Amino acid sequence: MKAAVLASGRGSNLQALLDEWQDGQLPVEFVGVGSNKIDAEALTRAERFGIQVRTFPRESYADNSSQETDILNWLEVIGTELLILAGYMQVLSSDFIRRAEYPILNIHPSLLPSFPGLHPQKQAVEYGVKVSGCTVHFVDEGMDSGPIILQETVPVFAEDDADQLAARILKVEHTIYPEAVRLIANGKIKREGRRVIVLRDS
Ligand code: GRF
Repeated sequence: MKAAVLASGRGSNLQALLDEWQDGQLPVEFVGVGSNKIDAEALTRAERFGIQVRTFPRESYADNSSQETDILNWLEVIGTELLILAGYMQVLSSDFIRRAEYPILNIHPSLLPSFPGLHPQKQAVEYGVKVSGCTVHFVDEGMDSGPIILQETVPVFAEDDADQLAARILKVEHTIYPEAVRLIANGKIKREGRRVIVLRDS
């Protein structure tokens, strides 16, 4: 399965995926990593693995639509069968989602549907929840609203600030994102409307 990644920043989730791939634990071929930020650390990480990178800085385009068209064309040319968002900090339009002919995955650092959108770890700390975590989901036309594939929990301690919680969640992200990609690549995921069924070996 040919996988492409879009990332905007640090790229630690991309790194986790690439590490498992290098260890032979991820049956996908990474065909490209794209970014809307020319200085994204994710690009350097991809280059270290010899993966093709492309940048699509928003300021180089007249509007979102022409930027997205360029991204979609590139994804098609490189043969994308699965698109993985890994800290891609630009909302994809409904038009993009409809035109993409492959599943799109995202990881969000909260237990959705709680705390969608920006700064979910800060939202969780301020709300006072005792448990948070992360969610891997299919992307639909809403904000962090697509069908949920996997979730994992972490405790929230009274003394936590948003950064401490973010660090605890990030560790778990690095396990469940590769796991979700592996399940998809191995054909272990069945979608029934909003419900995603994981077919575990019995
Ligand atoms: C992660 O917390 C991810 O859940 C969110 O953005 C952050 C990206 O981090 N969508 P990184 O760039 O993968 O290190």
